[in-house]
Amino acid sequence: MNIVKDVKTFETVTTETLIIGVQKHRGQMKNWDAFSVFSGEAVDAWLRTGEISADRKKIMKLPYAGTNKHIKRILFVGLGERKTLTEDELRETFGLVGMQLKSLKASDATIWLESFTTDAIKESDVAFLAAEGTGLGFYTVPNYKTTSNDVDTYFETIHFVTEADIDEVAASFEVGRIYADAVNEARSLVNLPPNMLTATDIADYATALAKQYDFDIEVLDRAQLQELGMGGILSVNLGSTQEPRLITIKYQARDNWEDVIGLVGKGVTYDTGGYSIKTKTGMVGMKGDMGGAAAILGAMKIIGETRPNQNVVAVIGSTDNMISGDAFKPDDVITMYNGKTVEVLNTDAEGRLVLADATTYAKQQGANYLIDVATLTGGVITALGFDKTGALTNNEAFFDSFMEATIETGEFVWRLPLTENDKKRIRKSTVADLNNSPGSDGHMIFAGGFVGEFAEETPWIHLDIAGTSDAQGPHDLGPKGGTGVMVRSIATFIEQLGEEN
Ligand code: BES
Ligand code: MN
Ligand code: ZN
Repeated sequence: MNIVKDVKTFETVTTETLIIGVQKHRGQMKNWDAFSVFSGEAVDAWLRTGEISADRKKIMKLPYAGTNKHIKRILFVGLGERKTLTEDELRETFGLVGMQLKSLKASDATIWLESFTTDAIKESDVAFLAAEGTGLGFYTVPNYKTTSNDVDTYFETIHFVTEADIDEVAASFEVGRIYADAVNEARSLVNLPPNMLTATDIADYATALAKQYDFDIEVLDRAQLQELGMGGILSVNLGSTQEPRLITIKYQARDNWEDVIGLVGKGVTYDTGGYSIKTKTGMVGMKGDMGGAAAILGAMKIIGETRPNQNVVAVIGSTDNMISGDAFKPDDVITMYNGKTVEVLNTDAEGRLVLADATTYAKQQGANYLIDVATLTGGVITALGFDKTGALTNNEAFFDSFMEATIETGEFVWRLPLTENDKKRIRKSTVADLNNSPGSDGHMIFAGGFVGEFAEETPWIHLDIAGTSDAQGPHDLGPKGGTGVMVRSIATFIEQLGEEN
């Protein structure tokens, strides 16, 4: 992708597609008058007759026939009321622009930045949101149709019409691109069929990522996990012919390996439920049960690109949850990596077992703070729907600082309580320290709370993305399928932590 730093005006720009924001109160738009004159007042006339709309998220495409013969077409992007336009809506609007550009097979575009600015949103913000939004909107789910001729390559050249500092604008655009690319990679991991993405494949992907960005990486196989006694991940893996993997990636930003944030991801490449088997319709889609792992790998990609001043350790537990004569069963009692015993009541409550061992390992690797991310429960969907990530925490201040990042990214997170009574139920068993399925009432809390038993005193945030990781249908920022949710929030949070250092 080529970001052209040679600033153009309407008169001098040579472009296939000129992208222009249209706000309700054009009198308040910077330089609208100049544009109006440039367009020979035609645009104002079209606005009056409705050929172009200033309604939010209405996008109109017109061939350009004005004085500058070097503009092929203009994309008019309705922004609505200037006062109420938020960064989230602008990002989504650019998502729709991305979809348009894709369908136009556009290779070149120019954004008039000032047409998208408001009193609160400045040129460099527009550049960032434009890159992020169009990059996300451009995404296509890879398919294996033998007749497929999809193009999923982003347009090649971007120019700006702007009065702002071009270096600053180009740098913001570049970061937005990095964010979108990383989210799209996480989406593709989620979208991969489970026969094409095993635990070994996730480890190979992580290894390539580590090599690209000069991270330390360690990949533990079945024999090594047995040596360590990681009964959680190993029990889930028992029914599988595929090896499990525990993947640890370290990014050391500072001289000392202290003040380390630990990211823990659920990488279940397929969840049949095991002997507590899922229904035939409930099983479809369980290829996405590695969405937490994908979110962390996506965040690590951004970290690799932007190099924030914050130490990070990422631990991903990966296996599938299958059935065979060797598989674990309800009634089994297993011993976890930290020595705690667990009575298995439900083999479909496997994610918490994988996360628990990965959490212990992250602490051992020096994590002083923990965030786990997982497609953990159907319960979070019942509680919050498909558009909100559910959260738990043992440390409100830590959680509040994470919320600031999610407000910036527009990824909605809502915290549920974790009470002493909930913990009692997780600890209720006549044969073991814990049980893995205290009940179906409020079970998002039991699942996350189980992981909390392994975080212990370490400040910890649990993110249940079962509802948000896999979109049920197309949305403004992309198609049905993997969303890459939490990639942007985690990366933004780590960026913010780095700024405090
Ligand atoms: N992977 C599932 C959770 C899930 C559900 C992810 C829907 C994405 C969409 C998890 O392992 C699971 O099976 N959870 C059970 C727990 C129950 C057996 C206690 C659930 O939520 O039903
Ligand atoms: Mn399950
Ligand atoms: Zn699962």
